[in-house]
Amino acid sequence: MKVCVIGTGYVGLVTGVCLAEIGHNVICVDKDEKKISLLNIGKVPIYEQGLEEIVRKNRDSGNISFSRDVGYGIKNSDIIFISVGTPPLSTGKPDLSSLDEVAKLIGKSINGYKIVVNKSTVPIGTAKRIKKIIKENQDNDHSFDIVSNPEFLKEGEAVDDAFFPERLVIGSESKKAIDIMKELYGPIINQDFDYARANSHKKEKVPVLITDSTSSELIKYASNSFLASKISFINEIANLCERIGANILDVTYGMGLDTRIGTRFMKAGIGWGGSCFPKDVRALSYTAEEYGAGANILNAVIHVNNQQRFKVVQKAMDLLGIIDDKVIAVLGLSFKPNTNDTRETPSIAIINKFLELGAEVRVYDPVVKEYPSDMDKGAVMASDPYKASDKADLLVLVTEWDEFLNLDYGKIKKIMRSPNIIDGRNCLCKKSLTDMGFNYKGIGI
Ligand SMILES: NC(=O)c1ccc[n+]([C@@H]2O[C@H](COP(=O)([O-])OP(=O)(O)OC[C@H]3O[C@@H](n4cnc5c(N)ncnc54)[C@H](O)[C@@H]3O)[C@@H](O)[C@H]2O)c1
Repeated sequence: MKVCVIGTGYVGLVTGVCLAEIGHNVICVDKDEKKISLLNIGKVPIYEQGLEEIVRKNRDSGNISFSRDVGYGIKNSDIIFISVGTPPLSTGKPDLSSLDEVAKLIGKSINGYKIVVNKSTVPIGTAKRIKKIIKENQDNDHSFDIVSNPEFLKEGEAVDDAFFPERLVIGSESKKAIDIMKELYGPIINQDFDYARANSHKKEKVPVLITDSTSSELIKYASNSFLASKISFINEIANLCERIGANILDVTYGMGLDTRIGTRFMKAGIGWGGSCFPKDVRALSYTAEEYGAGANILNAVIHVNNQQRFKVVQKAMDLLGIIDDKVIAVLGLSFKPNTNDTRETPSIAIINKFLELGAEVRVYDPVVKEYPSDMDKGAVMASDPYKASDKADLLVLVTEWDEFLNLDYGKIKKIMRSPNIIDGRNCLCKKSLTDMGFNYKGIGI
């Protein structure tokens, strides 16, 4: 099928390459000239394991192409995916200006029956909003259908999530569009394509939920909000553990043995960040309040998370006393491992707070090498974790990159001025670090 994907960020690029790999003819378009130029020379603008190789393979075979001309992509495709960003406004409401811009252009460029698939995470009712904007901008009577097809990929595992999803949700009021979507995703649903056959992650079959567009939109927000709630819940229990002398690792293990609870998303730490959870929980809370349904749990989930990252700063004060003039090494900038995404990362909030308190901050991340725009310019980017730790009074692990699990902590202890470690992800071994002579503080242990 002829597919256009508008917006080649984390979601759009992965969606486009996945559809190309299963045999469709895909044009990925983006208004960002730099991204398109990089993609046209086979380079991927984001860090996502395995992505560049599949992009190059499909570009070389002609299954995927990249363009800045959005109108060209729309005119030359039957199915149009929208995967532009929907960042939060200060009220918590998502900014739909990119989406509206794209809908207008679809209206202006429509030249035959099209299926417009919304993959961006959007507020309830957006399918109807897109339909209205397209209609208002049409100067012909070509028909089109709208589909809500939310994306559930996880950054850092995006390629696998796209090829081997746990479910596909297709929300539409049009039977014709639903049937075409099922055909489009046929190889994914049946796990019947070369990449799957050669991969151990292959599933038997992928469940597909067909529903109306409003339920589909809510499934995405409610899923992310539920996952964020699990983390905030366990962080609150971890804070209680610290007060009463319990160990959160044993507590979560004991809880997780109950299969109704499970162990996933039950890891205590400094909380969630990234481009999805913060904005999606805020957006759902906004919608719930807008419709008079109440958002008490959601608001508490946000509140707990906002406080959680600053527990690290409190622990630093407990270890160091006055922070002014202390040297603090921070390991990890991305909001989680295996991605270069620093949107709403707890790391930057923590670094900015340390700088505000007068510390000298050195930060190292295995893949984030560009200075994030919202990080205080006082922080120094170190080229390796040892340079960051040299003569430091405190080492703070913020992102649980594998590299940090395997550092030479004996060497780090020797080069630090004072052997203090805060493990914001409870991913290091407390006993061995304590045996080495570190003052170790985790979260709830
Ligand atoms: N990142 C994730 O893990 C993830 C997972 C699931 C869902 N989502 C949702 O998917 C959507 C996209 O997220 P993302 O992380 O890929 O965003 P992103 O910022 O990485 O990418 C969005 C892209 O859209 C492009 N764009 C914006 N306006 C455009 C326009 N008018 N025409 C053409 N291109 C335009 C931007 O240049 C950018 O490259 C969001 O709604 C997000 O909530 C994201």
